[in-house]
Amino acid sequence: MAWHLPRTAAASSSILVLVLVLVSTATAATAKSKPFPKHAIPTMSGYLNINDAHNNSLYYAFYEATDPVTFPAPLLVWLQGGPGCSSLIGNFEEIGPYVLHCTSLTHNPYRWNRRFGVVFIDNPLGSGFSVPVSSPRDIPTDEPTVAAHLHAALQSFMALDDRRFFRARPLFLAGESYAGKYIPAAAAHILRANARLPVLRRLRLQGIAIGNGMTDPVEQVAVHASQAYFAGLINAEQREYLEAMQNETVRLVRDGEWQLARRKRNKILGFLKNATGVATLFNYARAEHYPLRPLTDLLNTREAREALGVRRRDDDVRWVRCRKAVDKALHGDIMRSVRGDVDYVLNKTRVRVLLFQGVFDLHLGPASVEAWVRRLTWPGLEDFLFANRTVWKPWGDGVLAGHVQAWGTLTNVVVAGAGHMAAGDNRPAAQAMIEGWVLQDGPFAGGADGPGQPSATS
Ligand SMILES: *[C@@H]1O[C@H](CO)[C@@H](O)[C@H](O)[C@H]1NC(C)=O
Ligand SMILES: *[C@@H]1O[C@H](CO)[C@@H](O)[C@H](O)[C@H]1NC(C)=O
Ligand SMILES: *[C@@H]1O[C@H](CO)[C@@H](O)[C@H](O)[C@H]1NC(C)=O
Ligand SMILES: *[C@@H]1O[C@H](CO)[C@@H](O)[C@H](O)[C@H]1NC(C)=O
Ligand SMILES: *[C@@H]1O[C@H](CO)[C@@H](O)[C@H](O)[C@H]1NC(C)=O
Repeated sequence: MAWHLPRTAAASSSILVLVLVLVSTATAATAKSKPFPKHAIPTMSGYLNINDAHNNSLYYAFYEATDPVTFPAPLLVWLQGGPGCSSLIGNFEEIGPYVLHCTSLTHNPYRWNRRFGVVFIDNPLGSGFSVPVSSPRDIPTDEPTVAAHLHAALQSFMALDDRRFFRARPLFLAGESYAGKYIPAAAAHILRANARLPVLRRLRLQGIAIGNGMTDPVEQVAVHASQAYFAGLINAEQREYLEAMQNETVRLVRDGEWQLARRKRNKILGFLKNATGVATLFNYARAEHYPLRPLTDLLNTREAREALGVRRRDDDVRWVRCRKAVDKALHGDIMRSVRGDVDYVLNKTRVRVLLFQGVFDLHLGPASVEAWVRRLTWPGLEDFLFANRTVWKPWGDGVLAGHVQAWGTLTNVVVAGAGHMAAGDNRPAAQAMIEGWVLQDGPFAGGADGPGQPSATS
């Protein structure tokens, strides 16, 4: 840019260079004092009451669809994992309309709020800007409570639109990692509640999508050793050592020693980290850690908190990526399975299930998810397992986005070139996947007992 000039022009141009430098410094300063581009500001944001004893609420940020192609445009809820991580990570590092590039927010052409509205909810209570009113004792300690809170929060969200327009929109729950627990639990809760509620109070749940999910820990914890071994990251001896730890974890789960089992699982991950030396177990193809500071710095500025509608009474509460108090409260929940809730949802043949995994994840990759999928009691399982896995190249340029396997209402996608945060690691593929799946397009068009028209809910 500016430094091309001295090489090509006469000495007088150095004055021009100085002027250009001054101008660009001034522009940078202006950009810096405005951390929030207009379209990074939510369409609506604030707090959704969860009707618990202390009138607690969950923070949300809603971005309306920018280019919808169906009417009414669907609504998709995004939940981060942890437990205790803020869904604003998904917003500003993965799928939102503006994502962090180094330290500034830049337009994301692969945003998920193109064809549908996206609601980021800080869940469970205690995560992100969802600050408990009275004490950390209000933080849920099990999935049924998390599910009940989410259901109440979604009812509060629907009630924000007094023309009843939100309620008419097909609803999808999506998220990653530990949200693999929240989402099936919440979906089963919503479907059971729908059966009791008057038609006008039902949620039009049409599908759930889980990225690199923790859903059935006891099946998933047994996969680490062979996954790392076949990736060439550990040798046979290390594999056997890890297998013994895995077996011990499984035994602890069978004995109901939830917290000891959780600690043992952490030891397995610690051993893997040490033994492999990878920068991050979330993506063993990456040379560096994911940057964590920029988002924390951004979300603790006054401008950001105002733009996001954080309430004044929480001004002294710092935003942290993942809040330890939530992880602690759910300590006994971590190793419990919600596979039964996935069975329940699949048995309701009108709700679709999408599982997707970045291929380079050493926490909860494709083999880890397949381990529990194989144990489903859903009658469609056999057909799903025999369905062909197809090579998925959606762009017509030979570039691989991943692999798709689908039968009936269950779809599994392995996302190429991505790790644990698949939606952020391979944004073009993740956007093509979620839009195709929600709108039932291309390889996502639905299978044998396909869901039919998205108008009927059970
Ligand atoms: C509960 O919260 C709502 C909205 O957040 C507020 O209007 C109401 O006054 C609160 N009620 C109590 C008992 O705190
Ligand atoms: C772990 O358990 C499996 C299944 O019971 C068994 O086949 C294997 O030998 C065990 N491995 C170790 C190292 O204990
Ligand atoms: C990892 O390596 C460090 C340093 O060698 C050691 O202190 C730590 O105990 C190891 N952790 C595990 C889980 O093996
Ligand atoms: C799902 O359906 C199968 C077959 O009808 C049944 O065996 C299983 O118990 C059901 N599971 C749930 C959780 O509803
Ligand atoms: C699956 O792939 C095999 C081998 O390419 C093919 O013969 C078979 O027809 C395919 N099955 C389906 C259901 O598409």
